[in-house]
Formats: sequence, C-alpha cells, structure tokens
Amino acid sequence: VAHGDFVCDDRRVKELKNKVMVITGAASGIGRALAQRAATLGMRVVLSDIDGARLSQAVAEVEALGAEALGVVTDTGALADVVALADQAYARFGAVHVLVNNAGIAVSGAAWTLPMEAWERSLRINLHGVMYGVHTFVARMVAAGEPGHVVNVASAAGLITVPGFAAYSASKFGVVGLSESLHHDLKLRKLPIGVSLLCPSWVQTRIASDGQAPTAEHDPIDAMIEASVKRAVDQGITAEQVAEAVFAAIEADQFYILTHEDTRKAVAVRSEDILSGRQPSLALIERRPSLPPK
Ligand SMILES: NC(=O)c1ccc[n+]([C@@H]2O[C@H](COP(=O)([O-])OP(=O)(O)OC[C@H]3O[C@@H](n4cnc5c(N)ncnc54)[C@H](O)[C@@H]3O)[C@@H](O)[C@H]2O)c1
Repeated sequence: VAHGDFVCDDRRVKELKNKVMVITGAASGIGRALAQRAATLGMRVVLSDIDGARLSQAVAEVEALGAEALGVVTDTGALADVVALADQAYARFGAVHVLVNNAGIAVSGAAWTLPMEAWERSLRINLHGVMYGVHTFVARMVAAGEPGHVVNVASAAGLITVPGFAAYSASKFGVVGLSESLHHDLKLRKLPIGVSLLCPSWVQTRIASDGQAPTAEHDPIDAMIEASVKRAVDQGITAEQVAEAVFAAIEADQFYILTHEDTRKAVAVRSEDILSGRQPSLALIERRPSLPPK
C-alpha cells in the first residue's frame, strides 16, 4: 500500500475557540503556560495537577483571562484518577477536543544507585500517566467522532541520551514510541484525531527543583550532573515559548515538536552512532539555549 492511502485530508481541529482542552500537570511550568494560552484563544480549559494549592491558583489565573475553567486534582500515575478526570471533564463540558499529557517529573542518578522507588515513580508518572491518558481519553474522543488532537509531552531525553538520566530517558523513550504508534493507529483508520509529540530541551520551570529523589550514594558525578541540569533549566527558554510552539503544531497537525536546534543536531549524531555501529556519543548537558530557525 502506498503511504498516501492513509493520508486523511481533514484531521485538524480547525477552530480552537470554545473547544475543550484537558491539560495534566497544569499547575506549573509548561502545563500552566499552555492553559493560559488556551484561555486567551477562547478555549474551555480543564486543568489537572497533583498539587491542589498550585492548581487552584492556576485555575484562578485562567479564569481571570475570561475563560471557563475546571480544576481537578489528579495523580496521573493512578488510572482511577485519570478516569475520574475524564468523567469530570465530560460531565462539565460534554466533550474533549485536545488532550495534553504533560505531567512529569525528573529523577537523576547513576542507573545502579538510583533507588527503585525513583525508577518506579519516573515510569509511573512519565510513562504510565501518558498511557492512562491515551487509554481513557482517546477512546472517548474516537467514539465522539469529532476532530481532536493529542499532545504527549516527552523530552529531548526521549530522542537522545545523557548520563544520569536512565530512569527519565526510559520513561521518555517510552512516550516517544507510544506516541508514534498511536499516530499510526489513528491515521490507518482515517480517524480525525491528530497527535503531536513535544520534545523540549531546557525550559525554565520547576522541573529541576520539584520531585527530585535524593540518590542513595551522592557521588561527585551525580552532584555535577544535578548542578548543571539546574543551571541549564534556569537558562532555558520560557514555558510561554514552548506553549506557542505547541499551539502552532496543533494548528498545523505537526507531529514532532523540537524546541531547540541543538536537539536536531544531537538526534543526527545519535542516528549516525546507531548506523555506523560506534558507541553512543556523549551529549553535552549544558548547551546554549537556542530556538530553531523560523
Ligand atoms: N523543563 C524542562 O526543561 C523540560 C524539558 C523536557 C521535558 N519536560 C517535560 O515537560 C513536562 C512538564 O514539566 P515542567 O518542566 O513544566 O515542570 P514543572 O515541575 O514546572 O510542572 C510539572 C507539573 O506536573 C505536576 N505533577 C507532577 N507529578 C504529577 C502527577 N503524578 N499527577 C499530576 N500532576 C503531576 C507538578 O505538580 C507540576 O505542577 C514534564 O513531562 C517534563 O518531563 C520539561
């Protein structure tokens, strides 16, 4: 079969005004910026987060922009919570058009010293959370038959690897594979739901300060990696810049969203590592933040 056989010509959510967007991890960083941008576009927004206090504040900010908003405290790493989130979203707004599986945490430490609890938390929140979101919401979105869009938030660390991030990379590589396969599943059936995969590099958010598990043996290399990640995040692009790129991708039905030019180069190096049979190149942790050329 030719590739073109599966191209469905009208899979886009055309007009975002009044459409319903559900965002997980919406109380901070990228999720919060997405919620605010959705509000300014006249969307109705369902914000969910595990942190109830910050969530109330984020909901108030979105309402202050004139949007209808619903806040639902959710642990995306628990299927029952994600089902309850969907129930509340559909009960309040009757539809969901755009789902953003954004909630995530970063854990770091050498693969063999990282506590099993941190490994499992990373996979539960970063990977199972996306799996629960897809399982719960996409089934209802497909049944509704309306155009929709799913944005899964992975990371540059889902396409390339850095030292100290085995548990994080395992979860984010999982999100990349899941999302590419989801895209094929929807496209093969000509369903009107698009998929985008956000793979940011450093963004100024709380990611490097929240949810960090203390490593069992704090060796100097772990400490050096942690410090450089904190610095890189502090010097990263803003969450608002990322939100802008995400909405442009939704409107264009663009799959890969790479926010940093450096990521493109590192993906090329990694592909060459694989194809030439050499060992994985060590990507630099600290890169000067740079936006891709327009
Ligand atoms: N900031 C970066 O440099 C960067 C880079 C690549 C990818 N990402 C990804 O972007 C996403 C958003 O992160 P951010 O940078 O905005 O960080 P952030 O810490 O500012 O925001 C993440 C939000 O998710 C919430 N959260 C954490 N665990 C949760 C759970 N179990 N259920 C529901 N909510 C939960 C937190 O309370 C927080 O409000 C994550 O998936 C992260 O891995 C961030």
